Amino acid sequence: MKIDGKHYRTIWLAADGWSVEVIDQTKLPHKFEIASLKSVEDAAHAIKTMQVRGAPLIGVTAAYGLCMALRDDPSDISLDSEIAFLAEQRPTAVNLRWALDEMRTAVQNLPYDKRVEAAYARAARMADEDVETCRLIGEHGLKIIKEIAAKKPPGEPVNVLTHCNAGWIACVDWGTATAPVYMAHDAGIPMHVWVDETRPRNQGAALTAFELGSHGVPHTIVVDNAGGHLMQHGRVDLVIVGTDRVTANGDVANKIGTYLKALAAKDTGVPFYVALPHTTIDWTLDDGMKIEIEERGKDEVLKMPGRLKDGSVVVVEIAAPGSPAANPAFDVTPSRLVTGLITERGVAPSTREGLSKLYPERA
Ligand code: MRU
Repeated sequence: MKIDGKHYRTIWLAADGWSVEVIDQTKLPHKFEIASLKSVEDAAHAIKTMQVRGAPLIGVTAAYGLCMALRDDPSDISLDSEIAFLAEQRPTAVNLRWALDEMRTAVQNLPYDKRVEAAYARAARMADEDVETCRLIGEHGLKIIKEIAAKKPPGEPVNVLTHCNAGWIACVDWGTATAPVYMAHDAGIPMHVWVDETRPRNQGAALTAFELGSHGVPHTIVVDNAGGHLMQHGRVDLVIVGTDRVTANGDVANKIGTYLKALAAKDTGVPFYVALPHTTIDWTLDDGMKIEIEERGKDEVLKMPGRLKDGSVVVVEIAAPGSPAANPAFDVTPSRLVTGLITERGVAPSTREGLSKLYPERA
């Protein structure tokens, strides 16, 4: 997608041909900065501190992190230990594990002196595949938006509500939840997005709004608790969110607060869609309650960064000194609350049967 007229992906190989550059998401929307990752430790740090975030992007970053590790030591011992090291950086998004499994498969049967080249080739293909997958998700989601638009008075926007950031900045390009929105907007369908701010890290206010604004999509930031009210008053036509892991029975883990949006959508009859690539499906689990939920630091709840009038960015405390806090980063929306899954292979009910039909080779 474009920023100030220039096309970017979120991650790319640097001019040296082996290190990696990423858009530093901890600086957005206040500063657009590129971070350089020159080692597996840099890649792990970027994932942990959320310089890169979003399920697909952390997978691709880990893949490149492994490439850099193998440059230093392509042995089997190194392969095992670096995969374990990268996998432990964030536990909930299954794309991280998927990407590392793919990397292992790509190199494990090769002689040591062939591994680095094969690893870089697989990582590059993974990035390209993610772009194409998200584009296809966009095309399938666009059909849903077109159907809704056709039932509205001419010129009235289709109102989408989204939570967190499942946009291009969370993937390599396009995004999952946002891809249908960008395509609809580009096709001339009037669109408007309600952007949940997404406390505590404000991925909605800081990232989704930044993305949509950069692409010219009309949007409004709302506090996380506004969604139910907007749905009750007919101001949301559909919800589209991303996900960090979908279990084989169709339960959906996503950013904390997603479950409450799904409950409100069910109560008000608003369609609730989840957009995802196949890399987000965990075929090993058949119950969302078994998903490990990441607990993050309390400072994310107790402090907030913001920009002052002079442009400087400061972090302020927002609670009484000494107040305790808890920070579960994700929740699970049971499959019964999900209207449909929008994947690169089409739209399906969020059930074991729905997923099996789309991916018969995994059923
Ligand atoms: O903690 P984050 O910001 O990495 O959480 C991201 C989300 O919850 C996204 O909705 C999800 O990863 C899908 S990204 C296409």
